[in-house]
Amino acid sequence: MQLTDEEKRMLQGEEGLVRQKCMEQLVDLCDVAGADRLVDLDGTGDFTHAAMMSQGRYGFPLEELKALADSGAKFKIPTYSNKVPLPQVPFHGWEKCGIPQHEDPEYNKKLREEEYMSVYRQMGLFTSCTCANYLISSFWPTVGQHCSWTESSAVPYCNAVLGGRTNLDGSFASCFLGKAPYYGMHVTENRYATIVVKSERTLRTEMEWDIFGFAVGELSKLEVPALVGMADATTSKTVKINAALNTGGSIPMYHIPGVTPEAQTLELALNGKQPKETYVIGEKELRDAYDKVNYLPSEDIDFVSLGCPHYNLVDLMRVAHLLEGKKCKVRLWIMTTPWMYDLAKSQGFLKIFDDAGATLLTGTCPAAMGMPDGIKSVAMDSVKQSYYITGRYSSPEDPLHVCYGTKEDCVEAAITGKWRGEWR
Ligand code: F3S
Repeated sequence: MQLTDEEKRMLQGEEGLVRQKCMEQLVDLCDVAGADRLVDLDGTGDFTHAAMMSQGRYGFPLEELKALADSGAKFKIPTYSNKVPLPQVPFHGWEKCGIPQHEDPEYNKKLREEEYMSVYRQMGLFTSCTCANYLISSFWPTVGQHCSWTESSAVPYCNAVLGGRTNLDGSFASCFLGKAPYYGMHVTENRYATIVVKSERTLRTEMEWDIFGFAVGELSKLEVPALVGMADATTSKTVKINAALNTGGSIPMYHIPGVTPEAQTLELALNGKQPKETYVIGEKELRDAYDKVNYLPSEDIDFVSLGCPHYNLVDLMRVAHLLEGKKCKVRLWIMTTPWMYDLAKSQGFLKIFDDAGATLLTGTCPAAMGMPDGIKSVAMDSVKQSYYITGRYSSPEDPLHVCYGTKEDCVEAAITGKWRGEWR
């Protein structure tokens, strides 16, 4: 393994215990990933900041971190936080979320303002607390910048949508030292498409992109797919497909020729080579994927959850327009980022949600914080959330009915308590 003199000094503990542990972690990761060196990061990073940082082989006692922060140490790259660790608490909307534990002000405050958070903030962490940090444009790298991100639905946003370079390895160590193992998506040759996945018909809607992403994830294994047959790209659709690809499978990078920045054509996506395989996804495969994320659908709905990944401002506007002047019959949660909350408020969306009886929550999601007691059937507009919720909360003894559909299907379900979604 090639280390610079500075990296060797850190590894030997000459720059203090924290830097030593960080280097140990990165070197171990190189070992596992087969990387023979580290790359200096010039983009952005994020990680799950937490008291959990005090645990395990690479953890630091809080006192150690405090001393580091007091000495003036800062993160080497602009660093943002993912959500707070389990048990996750909402930053906004907790007062009326319907879960007694989370509605307790003391409990909420204690976890929201845990000491680690202020120490990290002193070191420069942006405490954005979201799985969708890319909603803050200053998080964006430009093409070719090396990053270290930690959220599976965000990693393809960096690689495929923005042309930045990251593996799923954002950590305190990588962001603090500004270094990451040089392998995977940092290396140009690994970024080209190796397989082609075509849709039999042109896919245009958000739900089609979401479902297609899930089906592609299931068949792609560790390949980089070039996706053909998709039209009318928007930010909301690319966000959906990123999350879906990493629900059906594990896909840090993909190309949509003519849309994503590293592949204006299919030939460029493949670097002029032949694909290892070409798959065609037709109506049957889409329908199968749709059925998989509609786990035991039911006509009656008693909870609706929107905002996975956390909603952007346009998503919030669309839901506000659907809810304006209406009343929800069943509980509706809408998830977004703490920073987006203020925009939603100033745009008047928050009032519309409040008037309709919906709750705008930030900083967490049902897959992480749980749902109110007694929920038997839930509706959502995200393949990822549907899959996670089914896996986490449904059991043969106590099955949960999970309905997946469009935003419109879900808002209608919140207003009527009935599910009318269908594959379109
Ligand atoms: Fe974010 Fe939770 Fe979905 S972490 S991507 S809202 S499952």
